[in-house]
Amino acid sequence: MQVKSPQQNAPVALITGGARRIGAAIARHLHAQGMSVVCHYRHAKEEAQALKDELNQLRADSAEIISGELQEIEKLPKLVTQAEERWGRLDVLVNSASMYHPTPVGTVTPEQWDALFASNAKAPFFLAQACAPFLAKSECGSIINMTDANVDRPREDYPIYCATKAALENMTKALAKALAPLIRVNAVAPGEIYCDEPSSVAVLSGGIRETLLKREGQVDDIAKAVSFLIFDSPHTTGQTFVVDGGETLVG
Ligand SMILES: NC(=O)c1ccc[n+]([C@@H]2O[C@H](COP(=O)([O-])OP(=O)(O)OC[C@H]3O[C@@H](n4cnc5c(N)ncnc54)[C@H](OP(=O)(O)O)[C@@H]3O)[C@@H](O)[C@H]2O)c1
Repeated sequence: MQVKSPQQNAPVALITGGARRIGAAIARHLHAQGMSVVCHYRHAKEEAQALKDELNQLRADSAEIISGELQEIEKLPKLVTQAEERWGRLDVLVNSASMYHPTPVGTVTPEQWDALFASNAKAPFFLAQACAPFLAKSECGSIINMTDANVDRPREDYPIYCATKAALENMTKALAKALAPLIRVNAVAPGEIYCDEPSSVAVLSGGIRETLLKREGQVDDIAKAVSFLIFDSPHTTGQTFVVDGGETLVG
C-alpha cells in the first residue's frame, strides 16, 4: 500500500534508535512510502538532525526528531505523547533501539543485566503499551520489534543480549494477542547486517559470517522487510520475519 494522502493526514511512524544505521534506513524507507516519521535518538543528535533535514527537504514538514534515554521507563509515556502530538496521530511503532555488547559469563554485573534488559525488552514493552491507544485508532496500526536471527542459537559471549532478544520475540506474540484485532505486532530478525561503520556487528564479531546467499546483508534489506510487514501483509500478526540471507542455516 502506497500512502498518498496529504502531508497533514499522512500516517506517522515512531522509530526508536532511528538516527543511524538500520533505524535510519527504516525511517527513510517508511518516509519514501509516504509516512511522516518521528525518529527517536539518544546520543546521535547530529545524525538525527541531518536525517530530519534530509527528509524535510524531500517533503516539507514530514520528519521530526525526539530524544530520550529508553532505560528511563517512567519517561516513555511522555515521549510517545510528544510524538503523537506532532501531527495528531500515531500509526506505527518500530522498536529498533537496542544495546549490543559482549557479557562473557564470569564478568557480568547486575547493572549490565539491567541496562540490556531495560533497553532491549522493557522499553519496547512500555513503548508499545503507551502507543497502543493511538495505534488502535489507525487503519494500519502496527508494531515492529527488531529481534535477532540468532535468537535460537545464542552466542556464548552475548548471553544477556541474546536473552533480551528472546524475551522480545516472545513478547511480540503476547502483544499480538493482547492488541488484536486493531493492532498487528510482528518482529523482524536480522542476521548480520553490514552498516558501514567501525562499530558494526561485523567488526565486533570478527567478520561477516557466511550466508547461503553469499552477500552481505544491507540496512535496506531490513527496511524493506519492515515496510512489507506494515503495508503489504495485513493478515500477518505475531510473526517473526527472519532476514539473514540463510545465515542461520549455515553451520
Ligand atoms: N546490525 C546488525 O547486524 C543486527 C543484527 C541483528 C539484530 N539487529 C537488531 O536490529 C536493530 C537495529 O540494529 P542497529 O545495528 O542499527 O542498532 P544499533 O546501532 O546497535 O543501535 C541503534 C540505536 O539504539 C539506540 N539506543 C541503544 N540503547 C539505547 C537506550 N538505552 N536508550 C535510547 N536509545 C538507545 C542508540 O541511539 P544513539 O546512537 O542515538 O545513542 C543506537 O544508535 C537492533 O534492535 C538490533 O538488535 C541488528
